[in-house]
Amino acid sequence: MKILLLAHSFNSLTQRLFVELRGRAHEVSVEFDIADSVSEEAVALFAPDLIVAPFLKRAIPASIWQRHVCLVVHPGIVGDRGPSALDWAIMRGEQEWGVTVLQANAEMDGGDIWAQAVFPMRRAKKSGLYRNEVTSAAVRAVLEAIAGFGSGGTPLPLSLATNVRGTFHAPIGQAHRRINWSSDSSTAVLTKIHAADGFPGVLDSLFGVACYLYDAHAATRQAWATFADAAPGDVVARRDHAVLRRTADGAIWIGHARPVQTADDADKPLKLPVADWFAAQCAALPELPAPLMRPDAEWGELRYREEGGVGLLSFDFYNGAMSTAQCRRLREAVAFARTRPVRVLVLLGGEDFFSNGIHLNRIEASAHRSDDSAADESWRNINAIDDLTEEILTATDQITISVLRGNAGAGGAFLALASDLAWAHGGVVLNPHYKNMGNLYGSEYWTYLLPRRVGADAARDIISNRFPLSAQQACEIGLIDAVLAPEACGLEAQALRLAAELAASDDFAERLAAKRDRRRRDEAEKPLQAYRDEELLRMRRNFYGFDPSYHVARYHFVQKVPHAWTPRHLALHRVPRQKETGVAS
Ligand code: COA
Repeated sequence: MKILLLAHSFNSLTQRLFVELRGRAHEVSVEFDIADSVSEEAVALFAPDLIVAPFLKRAIPASIWQRHVCLVVHPGIVGDRGPSALDWAIMRGEQEWGVTVLQANAEMDGGDIWAQAVFPMRRAKKSGLYRNEVTSAAVRAVLEAIAGFGSGGTPLPLSLATNVRGTFHAPIGQAHRRINWSSDSSTAVLTKIHAADGFPGVLDSLFGVACYLYDAHAATRQAWATFADAAPGDVVARRDHAVLRRTADGAIWIGHARPVQTADDADKPLKLPVADWFAAQCAALPELPAPLMRPDAEWGELRYREEGGVGLLSFDFYNGAMSTAQCRRLREAVAFARTRPVRVLVLLGGEDFFSNGIHLNRIEASAHRSDDSAADESWRNINAIDDLTEEILTATDQITISVLRGNAGAGGAFLALASDLAWAHGGVVLNPHYKNMGNLYGSEYWTYLLPRRVGADAARDIISNRFPLSAQQACEIGLIDAVLAPEACGLEAQALRLAAELAASDDFAERLAAKRDRRRRDEAEKPLQAYRDEELLRMRRNFYGFDPSYHVARYHFVQKVPHAWTPRHLALHRVPRQKETGVAS
C-alpha cells in the first residue's frame, strides 16, 4: 500500500510506524503538517492509498479527509475526545488506558473507529508512557486498521461501540496542574509532574524564580529523614543535578526546570538540570550522594548491581542526553565495574532512552555564558563521550553487552555498539547517524564501530540515508546482535538470564581470548586513537569552522523551532524521479 504519514514532526511514534510499515513492504512517505496547502500538495504528489496521522497538532483539512481515508491515532481509549488525553489519564489515575485509530471527519476525535488497543498504566512520566505503552498500542492498532482497510472493512461509528468508557475532556491547564506544597502528598506531586513531562512541565517556582518543573522522582524516607523539620515546599538537599524538595508527607527529587520566559529573554529559556539554572543556590545545599551500589528505591542517575556473575550498570540520564560531567561520571562508573569480579558487564542505559549522545541543551546554554562558548562545550562533551566509549571498547577483561531498553540516537547509538554485544527489544528504534544535526560528522569511534559490524557499504548508506531503523532491521543487517523480547517488559529479565549463561559458559575463556585477539589485531591495523583523531578533525570543523550549520541546527532543535519543510529523505513524493531510481541526478 502507498501510505502517507502526515505528522507534526518525525517524533518517536511516527518513526516507529515508519519502520514498522516499511518493514511490511508498504511504500511509506512522510509529510510534515506545516500548512493545509502543503499537505494537499503532498497528497496530490504521492496519491496515497491511505493517510495515517500519528501525531498532529491541528485538524486534517476537509479537502483531504473528504477525498482520502485518513487514520488518526488518538492516544486515548474509545470515546475519549479532546486534547491532553494522556495527561488527564495520568492525573485521574486511570488503571488502564489505550489508543484508538479513528477515521478523520469534521469532528475532532469523533470519527468512526477502525481499531483500538489498550494497555495497563504504569506510574511513569507522560513522555515515558508515550514512547513505550502508547507507541506499542498505536502500532498494534494502526496495523489492525490497515489490515481492515486493506480487506475492504468499514469503521465502527462511536454510537455503535460497546463498553465505551471515554468521555470528552477540556484542555488541561496549569490551574489543573498546580502543586499545593502544603497539602499535596509526594504521590500527588509526582503525579502532577509526571503528567506534564516532557511538555509543558508544571508551572511552579524554585528559589523564588517562576519555572516549569520536570523529571521528578520519589525520594526515600532515609533521604529526607534528616530534613523532617523542614516545611513542605522547602528545597533541602541536592544529588547529581537534582534537588530534594519536601512535600506534605515526604519529599521528591526534581531534576530539570525551565524558567518562565520574561521580557528580557530573547529566546525561550531552555529545559536544563536544576543545578545548572541555580548553581549558587544548589552549591549551598547539603549534598546527599547516591553510592553506585545501593537499594533500588534510592534514586540516582547511575546504578550498579551484580547478579549471577554479571555486573549491571544503568545510566538514566533525562532524555538520554549526556553532558560532559555525566559522561565523565559514567566513565568512572564503567572503570569501577571493570575492577569488579564479574565476567560480563551489562550496560543498561536509561529506561526511556539508551542514549541520545552529547547534551545539546547544555551546549546551547554555554553559548550564553561570557566565559564559555557552544563550540568549547561541544568539544569538551564530544571528548568526554569519546573517553567513555574508549573505556568500554578497551574492557578486555570482561565481555560487555549493551541492552537497549529504549531508543538510541546519534552518538548514543554508537556508544551502544562499543560493547561486544548489543541486544534490544522489538520496540526499539535506532538512529545511528548524525547528519540531521546540521551535517555533523560525528565521533564516538563510529568510523571503527559501524563498518566492523555492517561493512563499509552499509555503513555509508546508514550514515547518509539518515533513516531510523527498527531493532529487527538493525539485527538483520548485523548492527545489533539480538532482539530479545517484543516490547520493553521482559527484556531486562531475559537479558540478565542470557548474560548469566554467558558468564557461566564453558567456552567463556575462549570467547574472551577471541575478543582480546581481535582488539589486538584491530589496534595493530589502525589504532583507536587514529579513528578518534580523524573524527575529531572533522568535528572541530563542525564546531569551530566557518560553516555554522551545526550551531544553527542545534539552536533550532533545542528551541523546538517548527519545521519549515519536510526533509527530502523522508518526503519521497518530493524526490525527483531520477534520484529515486538512482539514475543520474
Ligand atoms: N541533547 C539534549 N536533549 C535531547 C537530545 C540531546 N542529544 N536528544 C533528545 N533530546 C531531548 C529533546 O529535546 C526532547 O526534549 P523534551 O523532553 O523537552 O521534548 C526529548 O529529548 C525527546 O526528544 P525527541 O526528539 O522528542 O525524541 P524522539 O524520540 O522523537 O527523537 C532523536 C529521537 C534521537 C531522533 C532526536 O531526539 C534527536 O535527533 N536528538 C539529537 C541527537 C543528536 O544529534 N545528538 C548529538 C550528536 S551525538
